Amino acid sequence: MLGKKIKIDVDYLRPNSTFIYPLISEDGDIVLPPRVALTAEKINAIKARYGNILYYNDNGQMAVIPSFRMQIARNKSKEIMHEIAQSHKISKVAIHEAEKVIIDIVNDLTSTEILALNLLKDLKSYEEYIYNHSVNVGILSAVMARMIGTFNKDEIKNIALGGYLHDIGQMQLDKNLLEKEGKYNITDIQKMKRHPQLGYETLKKIKDVHPIVLQSVLFHHERYNNNGYYGLPYENLPIYPKIIGLCDIYDALTSKRPFRSAIEPSNALKAILNAINQQFDYQLINIFINKLGPILNNTQAFYTHNDICELNTQELAIIKDFGINDMLKPKVIIFCKFQRTGEQLLARFYEKPLEIDLSQDPDNRYMIKIINNYKQLQSIQKKLEEKKLL
Ligand SMILES: [Fe+2]
Repeated sequence: MLGKKIKIDVDYLRPNSTFIYPLISEDGDIVLPPRVALTAEKINAIKARYGNILYYNDNGQMAVIPSFRMQIARNKSKEIMHEIAQSHKISKVAIHEAEKVIIDIVNDLTSTEILALNLLKDLKSYEEYIYNHSVNVGILSAVMARMIGTFNKDEIKNIALGGYLHDIGQMQLDKNLLEKEGKYNITDIQKMKRHPQLGYETLKKIKDVHPIVLQSVLFHHERYNNNGYYGLPYENLPIYPKIIGLCDIYDALTSKRPFRSAIEPSNALKAILNAINQQFDYQLINIFINKLGPILNNTQAFYTHNDICELNTQELAIIKDFGINDMLKPKVIIFCKFQRTGEQLLARFYEKPLEIDLSQDPDNRYMIKIINNYKQLQSIQKKLEEKKLL
């Protein structure tokens, strides 16, 4: 099977990473065999010989969840969504069947090392999107729960089930609202905001639905800055809906929608990083980026040299090398301290920029944002060129 040909930008390759498929050049030469670790020297040699673009063929065979299992989950999701749309109820049988589907997926994940995930991305309509999105969020939540390492198998199953069912409340909303392509107005937003409550109430009528599932459905739109649907205090909420909320955002960003194209995994990871202390807490995002990021982005980094980042200390820095053990702690040159007032940045440039490996920093600095605002970036870059730092 030939599979999907995936392009790799050599600038985003980092030392110590390995690929599960061989990397090949434009002409089909094998540049890096599978499972061989990259070094900085090797990356430079590859660049000199083959330029900046390489490829690999993803034939889907390394993904840990077989595609037939994903299809079963998708079909079950379709049945459940239809049942709710028609009757505004869900049967006990449907929940038990959903549970069985999720147990099979969780078993696939626990039996092997997780090398790659092939998420369902064949989206032709809103309905297709919601069936596939449910499966994807269930899978991502299970993987993330496993990576966190403190949950038992039963908890992981219920987190996955919560992810799988998180948006079932949407099936009780007006179809025209769900399929609307333009921007939502205030009334639309208010209607949309009812879906966690509707989903929760539907599930609550069934005895024996685990509290993890109920909490996940009810609170998956709560956010760190309290700008979620209910504005509840983030720190008092359980972790389960936060895991699901984060996985929900990643899958939504990387899915094609009628009003925008799909965002590349590397850019979606950047958006997730930029949600630190805005939408979710640092610890949770750190796990997503460091543990799920390499599986989703095929071991490539999602930032590159000379990207400008913001640190937790209200400082700006130029990225000089990748964080090897923690992607949020790269080698950087810190060049200014800033104050933010609204969208405005007031920057004070350091006389002597500080070159530092954040993984060794006694002050525990870490990245909380990669600057992607074009105007801000341009004015910072201009200053850095003047100071000969770029
Ligand atoms: Fe939702």
